[in-house]
Amino acid sequence: MDLGIAGKVALVTGGSRGLGKVAALSLAREGVDVAICGRTQATLDDATAELEALGVRAQGVVADVSDAAAMPALHRQVVDGLGAVDILVNNAGGSRARADIADLPLDDFKAAFDLNLFGGFQLMREVLPHMREQRWGRIINIASIYGREHGGNLSYMSAKAALIGATKHAALSLVTEGVLVNSIAPGSISHPEGSWERFQSDNPPEVVEDFISRNLPMGKFGWPEPVGDLVAFLASERANLITGACIVVDGGQGHSMI
Ligand SMILES: NC(=O)c1ccc[n+]([C@@H]2O[C@H](COP(=O)([O-])OP(=O)(O)OC[C@H]3O[C@@H](n4cnc5c(N)ncnc54)[C@H](OP(=O)(O)O)[C@@H]3O)[C@@H](O)[C@H]2O)c1
Repeated sequence: MDLGIAGKVALVTGGSRGLGKVAALSLAREGVDVAICGRTQATLDDATAELEALGVRAQGVVADVSDAAAMPALHRQVVDGLGAVDILVNNAGGSRARADIADLPLDDFKAAFDLNLFGGFQLMREVLPHMREQRWGRIINIASIYGREHGGNLSYMSAKAALIGATKHAALSLVTEGVLVNSIAPGSISHPEGSWERFQSDNPPEVVEDFISRNLPMGKFGWPEPVGDLVAFLASERANLITGACIVVDGGQGHSMI
């Protein structure tokens, strides 16, 4: 299947490891030039070398998405380096504060929104003028099954739910302008240096087995490639009737019926 996106420019936040890196590789295999950001120069350098080995242009920019005020500069560097952004993948995010309602300080709650929502929101606003002008754009936000249903911790669940809401609203406000906005809700995906890999190495086998048997119907953790390939598909010409969706990739882990 020809996805029809060769020569386009993508920005994938958190693209140096994990789901973001796999998504960047899936886009590069389709001939997309890819910029990635992260907080660590060395891992960005390794990932951009892997991307360039696929025959596309690649750029790594050190940037922390939890600093929304830094997003215009990130966007400017990518436009200067690779050209205007046609495909934005807001992937960087994660779960930090674990306290429940009685113990969670407001600043920690806000920090989850800084990391999972506000930087991505600002980047959406940065890329929109070009996408609207050319009447073509794709925005893909990486949420979580715990933005759709109960699970995970309070701050993460709340921030990912807000990201799914912002995705839906943005999609409908842009629906006639050729800019498609979707989110993806992964389940528990293990990958090198990721939190679920750490969970498996830091805990006794019986604890890991217990988690798997209670939570993962396939009897194993998920893997990132289906998420990466879905990103490439949603970014493609082939997906041009899909907007405002939140697509689950979880091996049956989530309990929601919709
Ligand atoms: N893995 C899962 O099971 C799972 C499940 C559901 C949803 N998700 C979501 O999927 C996304 C990716 O998850 P992942 O497991 O691949 O994450 P990860 O392993 O924690 O992070 C991978 C990438 O994000 C970068 N990164 C982390 N914090 C950043 C920040 N503040 N600013 C810029 N870059 C940052 C990392 O580089 P540096 O460390 O060098 O910055 C790295 O490139 C997240 O939004 C996560 O919430 C993951």
